[in-house]
Amino acid sequence: MKRRYHVLRAHSLGSAEREFATDVLVGLTERPKRISSRWFYDAHGSELFAEICDQEAYYLTRVEHEILSAQAEDFVSAFRGTPFNLVDLGAGDGRKTVLLLDAAQRLGLDCRYVPIDVSESALDDLIERMQARYPDLEIEGVVSEYLHGIEWLVEQAPRRASLVAFLGSNVGNFDRAGAARFLRRLWNALLADDGLLIGFDLKKDPDVLLAAYNDPRGLTRRFNLNLLTRINRELGGHFDLQRFAHFGTYNVFSGAMESYLLSLCYQEVRIDALERSFTFKPFEPLHTEYSFKYLDEDVLRMAQETGFAVQARHWDDEHRFCDALWRVVKAS
Ligand code: AVJ
Repeated sequence: MKRRYHVLRAHSLGSAEREFATDVLVGLTERPKRISSRWFYDAHGSELFAEICDQEAYYLTRVEHEILSAQAEDFVSAFRGTPFNLVDLGAGDGRKTVLLLDAAQRLGLDCRYVPIDVSESALDDLIERMQARYPDLEIEGVVSEYLHGIEWLVEQAPRRASLVAFLGSNVGNFDRAGAARFLRRLWNALLADDGLLIGFDLKKDPDVLLAAYNDPRGLTRRFNLNLLTRINRELGGHFDLQRFAHFGTYNVFSGAMESYLLSLCYQEVRIDALERSFTFKPFEPLHTEYSFKYLDEDVLRMAQETGFAVQARHWDDEHRFCDALWRVVKAS
C-alpha cells in the first residue's frame, strides 16, 4: 500500500521499537519509575483516547469544541491573504481541527493541512477522513513526535507561514520546565508572525478534575493499563495487568493531574527485549502522565517567556478551558 504520509524516526538507526525499548529501560530504572505518556498512543490507545473524549466527565474536548465552534474564524483570519500550513500537533482524530478547516474554507484561505501524530494508524485514518471531507485540500501527514515533525517542516523549501494548532491541553503533558523548553524550540523552528493556537485546561475544583481522569466506565483505567499491554506485545514484556491499578490524582502543589500505575504486590517483571527484569514493591508507583492545569496568568507568562505575543484568548462560558492565539515575535 502506498503511504500517504511521511514517517520520521528520532533515531535514524534503529526502529521505533528500539526507541520505545530505550525509553522503557531508562524510565523503569529511574526512581520514581516513570514512562512517558507519548507511548500511550498505539492504535488501541488512540482509540481509547477518542472514547474518553466522548465521556461526559471528560469535559476538556467538549468545552474546547465549544470555544472553537464560536471562534475558529477569529483564529484563522490572521492568515487572510497568506498561504499557510495548518500544522496539527498530536492531531488524534481531528474532531476539533475540522472547525478550523471549515473556517478557513469559509474565508477562502489558502491552507495546506499538516497533521503530526505519533500514532501511524490514527494518522492514516485521519488523512483518509479529511481527504474525503475536503477533496481539494492538500494534506501532508507526518508520523513523528512534535518537534521532529516541525523541524522536518522547516527543512522544506520554500518556507511557508504556519499556524500550529496545539489543542486539547496537550501542552499539559510536559512539566512546567519541559513546556517552556518545548515552546522555545517550537519558536526557533517557526518564522516571525507564525501562529500558535494553543489550548490550556484551567485550574478548577479538584473534584471535577478527579472525575475527568477517573471516568465511571473505566476507560481512563484501560487507557493507562494499555501501556503495559503495549510493552508486553512490542517488547516481550510479562506484565500481569491484574497486578496493577490505575491511580489518577491531583497534585495541589504542582497543579497537575498525575496518572500512575500502582503495583499491587511485590513482583518481578521480565521484559524480553531488554534482557532483564524489574522489581516492583507493593504499591510502588509507576508515573505515566502529567496533565498540568493553568491560570490565565500562566498563559500570558508562558507566552512572554518563550518569545510569543498573545494575540487572542477565548474561554468557554464556565471558564474551564482557554484557547489562545500566540504569534511568533522575532527581531528584524
Ligand atoms: C490528550 C494529553 C490532553 O492529559 O487530558 C486523557 C490525555 N489522559 N485522560 C489529558 C488523557 C487521561 C489528555 N491529553
